[in-house]
Amino acid sequence: MASNDSDNLPDFGSSELGTKEYWDSAYEKEVDNFEDIGDVGEVWFGEETMDKIISWIEKCPEVKANDPIIDLGSGNGMMCIELSKRGFSQLVGVDYSELAVMLSRSVAKAEGCEEVVFETGDLITSERPNQCTCLTRKYKVVLDKGTYDAISLSPHDSQSAQLGYLATVKDLMDSDSLFSITSCNWTKDQLTDFFKDFKLHDEIKFKTIQFGGKTGSTYTSLVLKLST
Ligand SMILES: C[S@@+](CC[C@H](N)C(=O)[O-])C[C@H]1O[C@@H](n2cnc3c(N)ncnc32)[C@H](O)[C@@H]1O
Repeated sequence: MASNDSDNLPDFGSSELGTKEYWDSAYEKEVDNFEDIGDVGEVWFGEETMDKIISWIEKCPEVKANDPIIDLGSGNGMMCIELSKRGFSQLVGVDYSELAVMLSRSVAKAEGCEEVVFETGDLITSERPNQCTCLTRKYKVVLDKGTYDAISLSPHDSQSAQLGYLATVKDLMDSDSLFSITSCNWTKDQLTDFFKDFKLHDEIKFKTIQFGGKTGSTYTSLVLKLST
């Protein structure tokens, strides 16, 4: 088991967003919408957030255009597709919903980004190495936007799911890799506490909101590296 003590993990309770049934049904509708009216569906946390993350990667001196990049829980594939349009050439998206993978391949084809690889794979399987080929290698950049949030809401033992996810992320990284995680559920402190075998490399800042005399950010977006 990973070094985290599962008794210390905050519990947000369960939600249908933590089930594969929910995502399969959501992407079934999105596949139909894309076929009918060309709507790519939801970009989680909005296009501005995606753009900020991509701009961070573009400006990062450590990341070259031909470095391997993986997007975990790639959904409709827009993160990889946008990265491809901005010149990144080794892109992989992985999602456990076959329908999401189908949608992302269709969107990539329509956008002229067919070189992006999309594979079906479960990020919390306990089998190591994972049966999905794209989860058996190392990446320079590992991306997550909203996927750890969804996994944390699993109604089937969310703490095991979180620890399984942690083990997968570590398997995909080496000492030079960067892990970019963007969340709407977790604070910076909670993320750095959970990813305790990592060190904080950078933070991507978003618009702040003020409420009840306090100022906060809508999302938390951190870039982490494995502690050596
Ligand atoms: C909130 S959506 C985010 C989608 C995309 N990253 C975005 O930002 O638009 C969460 C995604 O994670 C995927 N997902 C959830 N649990 C997963 C798991 N255990 N393995 C792989 N994908 C998972 C869902 O199918 C869904 O596409």
